[in-house]
Order: sequence, then C-alpha cells, then structure tokens
Amino acid sequence: MRLLVLGGTAFLSRAVAEEAVRRGHQVTCACRGSSPLPAGVRHLPLDRTVQDPAQVLEGTYDAVVDVATRPSWVRAAVAATTAAHHVYVSSVSVYADHTTPGGAPGRLPELDVIHEDVDLTASPDAYGGMKRGCEEAVRAAEGTSLVVRPGLIVGPGDRSGRFTYWPVRLNRPGPVLAPAPADAPVQVIDARDLGAWLARCAEDRVTGVLDAVGEIGDWRGFLGDVAAGVRTAPDLVWVGSDRLLELGVEPWAGPGSLPVWLPPTEYAGMLAHDPGPAKAAGLTTRPVADTARDTLAWVRSEPGVDVGGLTREQEAEVLRRAAAL
Ligand SMILES: NC(=O)c1ccc[n+]([C@@H]2O[C@H](COP(=O)([O-])OP(=O)(O)OC[C@H]3O[C@@H](n4cnc5c(N)ncnc54)[C@H](OP(=O)(O)O)[C@@H]3O)[C@@H](O)[C@H]2O)c1
Repeated sequence: MRLLVLGGTAFLSRAVAEEAVRRGHQVTCACRGSSPLPAGVRHLPLDRTVQDPAQVLEGTYDAVVDVATRPSWVRAAVAATTAAHHVYVSSVSVYADHTTPGGAPGRLPELDVIHEDVDLTASPDAYGGMKRGCEEAVRAAEGTSLVVRPGLIVGPGDRSGRFTYWPVRLNRPGPVLAPAPADAPVQVIDARDLGAWLARCAEDRVTGVLDAVGEIGDWRGFLGDVAAGVRTAPDLVWVGSDRLLELGVEPWAGPGSLPVWLPPTEYAGMLAHDPGPAKAAGLTTRPVADTARDTLAWVRSEPGVDVGGLTREQEAEVLRRAAAL
C-alpha cells in the first residue's frame, strides 16, 4: 500500500507511520519535520500554516491518514490528494453529552459543526466542533473513509501531562492522593495500539465512524494496574470529588490538577465509551500495566518531560487539609 500520513513526527501519527513501515508499506510523511521521522518513511516537507498541500502532495496514494484539527487544513488535504481511502483521527470530544456511559456514534448527540479554523488558545471549547468540521471534510472525499474518535490517548511520548503523571507518581514513595469514588470509570488507549490499528484500517479500507477506546475500568483497578506496571504498592488516600474541588484541585490536566480525574456526575460518560465496535473492527489493546511501565521508562529517558498535575508540595497540602476534617 502507498500510505500518506499527514504528520509522522510526534505521537499518534508517528505510531501509525511506524506500524505501516513494519507491515511493509510505502509510507510518505508530509509534515514540517519538527523532530526526526521514523526510519523507512519518505518525508515530504509541508507546513500547512503557509503551504497549499496541492503544491507538495504529488502522486497517488491508496490511503491517507490525517490527524489535524483545523477544518481548512483537512479540506485542503482532501482536495490535494488522490486516494482510494481516507482515515481521519477525530475525538470523543465531538459529543455533546459526556454524562452517559456506554456512548458510541449514533447513541450520543454531537456538537454543532464548525467549518472555520478557530484559535483554540482563545476558544478551547471550539475543539469538538472543529473536529466535526474535519470529519465532514473527510467524509465528503472521493473514495471511502473512516472516522475514528479516540478517547484519552496515552503511553510513551505523551507530553499532555495526563496519564504520564500516574506512573511517575506511583513510582515515588509516600501517600498518594487518589480521587474517590474508586469505582468511577477510567478508560485509556495506548497510542501504539491505536496507531497499529489505524494502519491496519487504512490497509483494509475499514469504513464508517468508530470510537477508539480501551476497556472501561475503574479508578481502583486503574491505579492498581499502574502500580503493578511500575512495581510499587502505593498507600492510596482516597478523597471525594466534591472535597477535591473544595480544596482547589483542578480536574483532568494542567497545573494544580489531579490528572485524568473528572468530576463524576458531569463526566460519567467521558471515560466510559463502548469499546465493542472498535474491537469488532480489529482493535486490540495492551494491559494498562504495560503502558505504565513503558511510560515510566520513556520519562526516565527524556529528562525534563513535564508530567503535569500537582507538585509534591501541593499534593502534600491537599492530603493534610483533607485529613484535617
Ligand atoms: N491526545 C489525546 O488524548 C487525544 C484524544 C482524542 C483525540 N486526539 C486527536 O489525536 C490526534 C493526534 O494527536 P497527537 O497529539 O498525537 O498528534 P501527532 O499525531 O503526534 O502529531 C501531529 C502531527 O502534525 C504535524 N503538524 C503539526 N503542525 C503542522 C504544520 N503546520 N504543517 C504540517 N504538519 C504539521 C506534526 O509534524 P511537524 O511538527 O513535524 O510538522 C505531527 O507529526 C489529534 O487529531 C488529536 O486531536 C488526541
């Protein structure tokens, strides 16, 4: 297969390109080349902020994989490529309902489509609508298409300061702040599993719209799996979500956050999408313990990675105040 990956240097798109090379395909990566490309790919230099891909993307391809978020970029790439099959990486953020567990395409309402490129720094809420705009551009392409909506993508190379916090934290001694209730859902997918599956979907011309998620677990099992992966037996201190919010702990990501944790009522469905349809389409996922082990090894190999979340001092202060009640 002649595969065009729009990207290839960073996290998920790199995993797609690596797997496609491993499977013996001719892989072209069109991107700026901000970091080294995987061995065995052809690099077409492309800066989508200033270049029309029509000037760069010569040749025909059997399949194209795009991960962009700006609708104009995806429209331009679709217009510039002759390919039998398009695979687009969207997000579960396209759904308007994050409260209902077991969600899947067709079961949850979707956000309104945004066709324009919005500055996400100023308007982060436009992300899901823009992803829908990108989805529509790909579905309008000639040939067949697959839209994949991942949940939280994790593993070595994840610089988003979410999952990466946990293997690092559980590897350190001392009481560990954990979000109660312990049976609230958690769901992650390793970028290497998702990338490998996307490469196979490109090859097999899988069509439709699928959520790409791992098994639904709960926080007790999740932290147990991470601890097993980094070979520790942590002293978990469970503090309820309402109390965490009162103590100023931020959910999900960023400074002062307890990464991956989401207030359970408002987001009961966000990390609990139905993994069944993607599994039926060939997605396989490794144990969370393996992802945790490899993520810790990656952090150790890359000094200076910001793992996100609470600092040691902030965590100790939250634990002290939570215990004072
Ligand atoms: N992270 C998550 O948990 C999550 C969850 C759901 C969905 N998603 C979606 O998954 C996708 C993958 O995200 P990722 O962070 O892993 O990205 P990625 O696939 O690692 O990298 C994005 C690629 O885009 C290229 N790129 C960036 N700016 C460019 C430009 N101006 N011109 C040409 N190429 C450019 C980069 O290459 P160069 O820098 O070399 O140009 C890079 O190879 C995204 O669509 C994201 O919305 C992510």
